[in-house]
Formats: sequence, structure tokens, C-alpha cells
Amino acid sequence: MAALLSPQAAIAQQVHVTSNGLTATANGVTLEVTALEQDKLRIREWRTTPPEDASWAVLPASRTSRIPVSADTNGFHTQQLAVQVGDNLHLIIRDRDGHILQEDAGPTVWRGDSFRVYKQRGENEHFFGLGDKPGPLDRTGQAFTLWNTDSFGWQESTDPIYKSIPFFLGEEGGRYFGVLFDNTWRTWFDFGRENDAEYSFGSQDGPIDYYFLYGPEPRSVMAAYAWLTGPAPLPPLWSFGFQQSRYSYSPESQLMDVASRLRKDKIPADALWLDIDFQKDNMPFTVDPRRFPNFPEMVSQLARDHFHLIVIADLHIAHKPNADYAPFDTGTAGDHFVKNPDGTPYIGPVWPGPSVFPDFTRQQTRQWFGTLYKDFVHDGVSGFWDDMNEPAVFRYPSKTMPLDVQHRIDEPGFATRTMSHREAHNIFGMQNSRATYDGVLTLRPNERPYVMTRASYAGGQRYAVTWTGDNSSTWNHLRMTIPQLVNLGLSGFSFAGADVGGFAGSPPADLLTKWLEVAAFQPIDRDHSAKGTRMHEPWVDGPEHEAMRRRYIEERYRLLPYIYTVAEETSRDGMPMMRPLFMEFPHAANDGTPMDLATGGAEFLLGPNLLIAPNPSPEEVAPYELHLPPGRWYDYWTGTQAGTAGKAQARDAEVRDTLLQNQQILLKPELATVPVYVRGGAILPLQSLVQSTDETPKGPLTLRVYVPAQNQPCEGSLYADDGHSLNYRRGDYFRIKASCEVAADGAVTVTLSAPEGSYRLQWESIRVELAGSAHTPAKATIDGKDFPVSENNHLPGVTFARSAKPTRITFP
Ligand code: NOJ
Repeated sequence: MAALLSPQAAIAQQVHVTSNGLTATANGVTLEVTALEQDKLRIREWRTTPPEDASWAVLPASRTSRIPVSADTNGFHTQQLAVQVGDNLHLIIRDRDGHILQEDAGPTVWRGDSFRVYKQRGENEHFFGLGDKPGPLDRTGQAFTLWNTDSFGWQESTDPIYKSIPFFLGEEGGRYFGVLFDNTWRTWFDFGRENDAEYSFGSQDGPIDYYFLYGPEPRSVMAAYAWLTGPAPLPPLWSFGFQQSRYSYSPESQLMDVASRLRKDKIPADALWLDIDFQKDNMPFTVDPRRFPNFPEMVSQLARDHFHLIVIADLHIAHKPNADYAPFDTGTAGDHFVKNPDGTPYIGPVWPGPSVFPDFTRQQTRQWFGTLYKDFVHDGVSGFWDDMNEPAVFRYPSKTMPLDVQHRIDEPGFATRTMSHREAHNIFGMQNSRATYDGVLTLRPNERPYVMTRASYAGGQRYAVTWTGDNSSTWNHLRMTIPQLVNLGLSGFSFAGADVGGFAGSPPADLLTKWLEVAAFQPIDRDHSAKGTRMHEPWVDGPEHEAMRRRYIEERYRLLPYIYTVAEETSRDGMPMMRPLFMEFPHAANDGTPMDLATGGAEFLLGPNLLIAPNPSPEEVAPYELHLPPGRWYDYWTGTQAGTAGKAQARDAEVRDTLLQNQQILLKPELATVPVYVRGGAILPLQSLVQSTDETPKGPLTLRVYVPAQNQPCEGSLYADDGHSLNYRRGDYFRIKASCEVAADGAVTVTLSAPEGSYRLQWESIRVELAGSAHTPAKATIDGKDFPVSENNHLPGVTFARSAKPTRITFP
């Protein structure tokens, strides 16, 4: 976005407006713009013949969607966008008020097969997304390469790392848009680093094929991206519980000890992970009979103790001819491995030694690979971990296979052909996780597969959740989890986590404590650590630390009804669980500047209503400023309105007044506390403490209403289902919406909708309670009848039987 008016006055003559867009040709280059919807465009450009119209990322129905457009001189408009092409295919996209949203900075530059597309960057234009790239939340002023890379011990400026998600959001003046650059080759992005008046993206080869998704609200961009590439399916409920992992728990007795200690110490937990050492000689899809002699019985025992087991099953298949190793034998018989240019199978070293690599861009190969999970599924293993799928190959400086290795495309919707690893590399991990997801789904057709992948590409959220790979046990890495996970969420990967405590290195006790506290509010809470580092389990630093850590994990379990409701929203409309402040408060600043630029991306929202504000310099003890978005906020821990405590702490009157005016609070960091705030007008669903998601919570479901100021919005919802099957897709779920109104005299009326869906909620009673009400009435009325008000943690509320009809509760 640049100025309101374009300096480009001269208009090309060769623009041909079609019923759904336009084509234009200049200097042998053709530009095609297609309107997929009123606010969504696809832009392609080519030199000789149009590239194949196929995509690994974009859903066919979205890619082929069309709407009629109205012709203008040298362009067209839809209800929301106006597109114009000037000399040299100079492309300008405006909103219908004439604001320029995107304008070329010059013609596409080609060098051999490589190319780069240049756009003008507005002075205050900012960029977010681009997957797992480390570094600040705002991508402005930086340049990146997308090339999936095994990056053990990556640091803040390491690039590239594991994933290639060529999707970003742009914002200027409070108007947001998204761009997906759908090109699987090595790609490059520059957000004003080389020239701050431009941003650009390009590739080594392949198509110029990108999508422009207009907001203007950031929320609409997220919905558009989910429409384009598919939302992430809803993971099982247990995966939102606490998960404990280690490279590696081995032998079996060590894993079982961890399981019993979690239960004995009453640290709620749902999942345990087995890393490569449970396998025989590191061979994927095997179990070492020496160290895990009773594997099926062990899985059953864990299930009886309410633990889900996730095992690693890397994609590389050990090159073991005549060794009775079925993955190698059946893979060879089916011709499922990628090949050298001379047609021999490519063999490269990974964990098991010489290994071969499935040709995941063939449908038949994915189907075969999916069958390899049969025994694990039969034994009751709940989830699968697709690691090393960049693919990582040892010993080469490139850390991956040679670029001339041949992959075959044999896939509905694509021309059948071979491609070099250069073209296949960035989608390899995604297609690996697709094979796992589809395979496990075939083996357990009505259960939600749980797959965690390290590498992926745009659209990969359809198959797997992810984590940020081999981070380090440092305070800076704890801080970096926030911008990294937020940007992953903005790139479709809402279900993501970082190794809690850090993978490489040994966290000091305070660091591990703080990390376990913060991660309790992140989408995936999985403690994992590398071989040779000190153990990370919550109890390793003695009872005091353990108590602090337990408290946060417990709070996560109390919040599970909210967390799961938020997760369901992701699976429906692409809204990330972990959100930057601008997602909910895009107009917090008058000029539309994202609030997160002021907070440095240190604060984040979990869903629409919880604001988590860890210390931006987590190792420091000096007070720090918290910036609250507009409106009323409550301290989650005390239920009192935010601000009062902070006010008192501000150093002098002047500071205090500025802080208040700007919704700022001064916070004193404490090891035992992570500040969490709740939006006034939020209605949070909460449950009583359980030790795992298998346990039925005692008592009622609580809907805690954080009383807003009068005439301010007040709403919330609860989503629930059986937590594991796909029945919810056929209507077997439960959803209620709640809202509240505050009368002039302070009376609060809460309305619950009739439940939607056929699922029978496990709670028979509901408690509606108020945080922040002006007074505590002795009784409330429910649909006109009096009910006694009781206090729970100083919050007044009423408990009543759940009803199939709408319910109105008034606190006079
Ligand atoms: C690399 C992964 O990133 C890490 O999480 C895992 O523990 C090791 N591989 C061993 O499998």
C-alpha cells in the first residue's frame, strides 16, 4: 500500500477484461488476474505458456472458484476490490474507496528461470506470518528464504528453518490483506530490507502464482486463508492436556516411572511421547524388543492410567535388504522410493544409517506408507510424530538430499511427471504428514488422527499439528516462543507448540518453571528435551518449583472448556488460538497501527478473551509495562478489575497517569506468576480440576461472566463433543452461546441459548457466576424463579440444571 493516488498515469492498451477478471500482455509476458470471490484474487504471470494449473496448498474448489466482475478501463472491479493494469503490466489493487492496497514497484524481474515480483511498501506498512521464522513478530525490514531445513539449535536470526509457509499478512492504516505465494521451489521474501520502499517475493523457478486476500479486518484474512487452503481439523481433546516427552524415555520402565510419578504427584497430564530409542536400531516402524519387551501391554497399561502414547515414526526407511524389515521390503516391491537421475534408489544416511525415502508425491506411495501404522494403531498408540521430514539427511552440508534426486507426481489434479528434488523439497514434509494422517484415518476411520510434523508447506495444517523444532534452553528462547507461535497461527498452523524448557541445553530451575507457566496458555503444552541434557519433568527441581509448575498445569485443565471451544473455532474458520492483539483489537490505535508493535509482540491472546502478559525480558527483575487493549480488563487470578494494583506500583504520579491513560500497568515480575487478564464482557467456560481429560470433572460447568461496562458487548460460548471421534461432523456436538446485559442499576442479566447439536454434555448442571459485579445479591432469578446466590472464590453465582431451552438469569 502506498499513496491514495497512483503516480502511474499511462495505461496499457493490451488489457483484456474477461467475465471473471483480466489478462494483459506486454513484452512477451502475460498477466492474468482472476476474481475468486469479491475480496479474493488469484494472480498469475508467465512468459511463454501458462504453467500447470495445480496446487498442493490450495483446495481445488477455491482455486477454481470464479465470480463475475464489472469491466473498467484497463481493469475491473468487484464489490470490494478494483484492479487496474498500467504500462508494463503495472498492477494496482484498490479497495472500493480508492485506497491502494497493493501496487507493483516495477515489472517482474526474471533471471533465467528465477524471478522476483516487486510491490511498493507504504511507509507504515507492516508484515506478519511466514510460518515458523524466528525473530520479531513484525517481519518488516527483514528478508527470508523458504527452504525446509533441519536446524538443530536454531537461533533468533537463523534462516531458513524447518517450514516453508509462503503466506503473509500486510497491514497499513488498519487495512489488512493476505498473500499466498504458491510456489514449492526455494522462495524468497523481502519486506523492505533491501529497499524500505518495496517488498518482494520470488523463486528459483516454477510459477508466478499468488493470491491476494483482502480483509480489511485481520479476522477476515484468516477466514480467507482457511477458505483457500483448508482449516486445520479439530484435534482430540486430550492433545490440549499436558504432554511429557524426552529424547528418549528408554527402557520401558523409565517411561512407566514418569507416568506413575505424574499421577502420584498429581500433575495433570494426558500424553507421553516415545522418541527414536524405543525402536530397534533406529529403524522406523519397529520396536526394540530388548528395551520395550511388552510394548502392546505397556500401551494398554498407559491407557488404563489415562495416558495417550505418541510414538515417533520418521519417514526415512532403513536400507536393509534381506533383513526381514517389512517397510523396506514392501516399499521396494512397490517401487515407493525416490530415485537418483540414473534410476537407482537414492540412499542417504539418517538415524538408522543408510536409508531410502518414500516418494510422497505419489498417491500410491502415500497409501502404502499409511499401512505401516497398522501394528501401532492395533496396539492402541494414539498419535504419530513425523520428524526429520525436511527431509533431513546427515553428512551433506546441505543437510538434505541432492537436488537432482527424482520424485514422481502421480496425483489426481496434476499432470503425471517427474520433478527434481529442487521442486519437491518444500512439500516433502507436508506430503509425509498427509500420508500419516490419511493412513491413520483409514485404519481408525471414525477417530481423529493426531499427527505432529516438523516440516510442512502452506495447507499442511490439514494433516498435522506442529512444533518449533530444536530450540534451546535459554530465556531468550522462552521469549521467542511467543512471536514464533503467533506467526505460525497467522500462517494456518494454530495448533503448535515449542519444546517446553527448550530442547538443546539444560534449563536452570527458574527458567523451566517460567516456561511451564507460560506454555500452559499456548496451544500445545509439551515438555521435551534432548539427549544428554538434564531431565525436564516438572518435579526435577524439588517441591517448591514443582508446586509452581503444577499450579499452571492445573489452571490449563480448569480452562480446558475454553481452550477446546477456541480450538473448535480454529477448525471452523481459521482463527488462530494464540492471537496477536491486533487480531481482536485492529483499531486500538487511531491510525490503525497494530498494538503489538508497542508491546514488542510479548503479549498474546489465547482465544478472544484471555490476554497473557509474560515479562518481555523474562530473565530480568525490573518492573515492566503492560499495555491493555481498549475497554475493561480483569485480573484472571483475582477476578478484580485490572489496573488498581498496577496504579499503586507506578513510580511517580506522572508515570502513573500516563500509564492509566494508555491502559498501561506496571508489573513487577515474580517467578510464581504470569499475569493473565480477561476481557470485560467475556464469558469464560471453566471446569473443576481433573488429572486427565478422561476424568469427568466434578460439579457444574462454570460460565464466568466478566461484567462489562454498561452497553458494552458481552458474550461467550461453549463447544463440547466426545473429544475424539468424528461424530461432531455429523451434528453430535454441544454448543451454547451466552450473552449478558448490564442495566443502569447494575443488575446483570445473562442469557444462554438453547443448545445446538445432539451431543449430551457431561455436565448436568451449570453455574453462572459474576466477576466484577457492583454488589453481591442474595438471590438471582432464573426464568423468573428465585435461586440462592452462593459464593465461590468470592465470586457470586447460581447453579442450576442444564436445560434444552434458552435460560435467562438475572442478578438484581
Ligand atoms: C529431532 C527432533 O527435532 C527432536 O525433537 C527429536 O528429539 C530428535 N530429532 C530425535 O528424534
